[in-house]
Amino acid sequence: MPAVLDSLKTIPSDAILGIMQLFRADEDPNKVDLSVGVYQDESGSTPVLECVKRAEGEVYAAEDTKSYVGIAGNPGFNRGIEEILFGADHPALAGGRAATVQTPGGSGAVSVAGHLIRRAKPDARVWLSDPSWPNHRQLLGLAGVALEHYPYYDRGANRVDFEAMCAAIGTIRPGDSVLIHGCCHNPCGADLTRAQWQTLAELCERHDVVPFIDIAYQGLAEGLEEDAYGVRLMAERLRELVVVASCSKNFGLYRERVGSATVISPDRERSATVASNLSNIARGIYSMPPDHGAAIVARILSDADLGALWARELDEMRERLNGLRRLLAGKLAERGTTTDFSFIANERGMFSFLGISREQVIRLREEFHVYLVESSRINVAGINQRNVDKVADAIAAVLQD
Ligand SMILES: Cc1ncc(COP(=O)(O)O)c(C=O)c1O
Repeated sequence: MPAVLDSLKTIPSDAILGIMQLFRADEDPNKVDLSVGVYQDESGSTPVLECVKRAEGEVYAAEDTKSYVGIAGNPGFNRGIEEILFGADHPALAGGRAATVQTPGGSGAVSVAGHLIRRAKPDARVWLSDPSWPNHRQLLGLAGVALEHYPYYDRGANRVDFEAMCAAIGTIRPGDSVLIHGCCHNPCGADLTRAQWQTLAELCERHDVVPFIDIAYQGLAEGLEEDAYGVRLMAERLRELVVVASCSKNFGLYRERVGSATVISPDRERSATVASNLSNIARGIYSMPPDHGAAIVARILSDADLGALWARELDEMRERLNGLRRLLAGKLAERGTTTDFSFIANERGMFSFLGISREQVIRLREEFHVYLVESSRINVAGINQRNVDKVADAIAAVLQD
């Protein structure tokens, strides 16, 4: 008799994991990894922030139980995150229209939000940007949400194709959701301008489309406040809004799994109903969120000195990323490449597409020991003063022949 498990097919491991394995096996001492999805400092490590180290010590010293936190998570964390996202004085907060749950990472937040959308409107579709973070499809698909795509990045022109994006959103059914990256678009690095956010807000309002903003890199594009422009505008203009956030990158808390899902409702009464549903969904997926990472964030956000230290460390990460973008674009320009790479300096966050072919990506790896994913997405944070010339030489070489 066949075993039930015989029907399962082996799922090929993530393409990025395959690249990581090849990188590890490469014995070249000057190999460069631009494929990873985490921030790296000049020495190539992903450090624990100093503000996190200090807060962690204080949390540890004060901890007197390992009993569960509530389903919705740490209230101080939830309030602190709402203030970072919307600003402490935002009318949506004052009006009691925001409901937030702490989630296991930004990924957990996408999942909770997907389940909520499906529960609220079973035939609603969520529209993803083309391209988008690949796990959006997996997380929302498992939540049972039907997915569609809208055009976003023009790979020929290396910019957002805003006309095509708006044309597609103009055809979306009322009640559908459009998932927008709040800043530092993953994987393309091309963000919306303020004028484009305004046009988009009008469009969503006119067509009764619910914006679903995923902001996983707040503070790493232009600044903590500046990066929340789209979130705050949408919360002012629209009656309903979904915002999912992650503390993985801006607090460097990747493995602690800290994120949040916030829903803005038309009024206080409906917000209470939404809050009960968010908690009920969280209960059904993972029951209770983990404590540690959110307790650290809550501690940082409630202490002026720790908060100021975090702001400085975040500024440092952002300035490093933006500096590396200018550095790489400059080095490529010096080499007189036929492609104009100035777009890399203008894009934001950790990722950009080089826009080279799959064959050229393979040559970079096999001949020059420079590793990136096949889509040609690079993690800018993998560049440093020691390897930037090697990377620029390698890119120029594969473009030449
Ligand atoms: C666009 C986007 N959303 C959400 C996440 C979720 O991150 P995490 O679950 O690690 O907090 C990521 C991480 O790469 C991301 O790039």
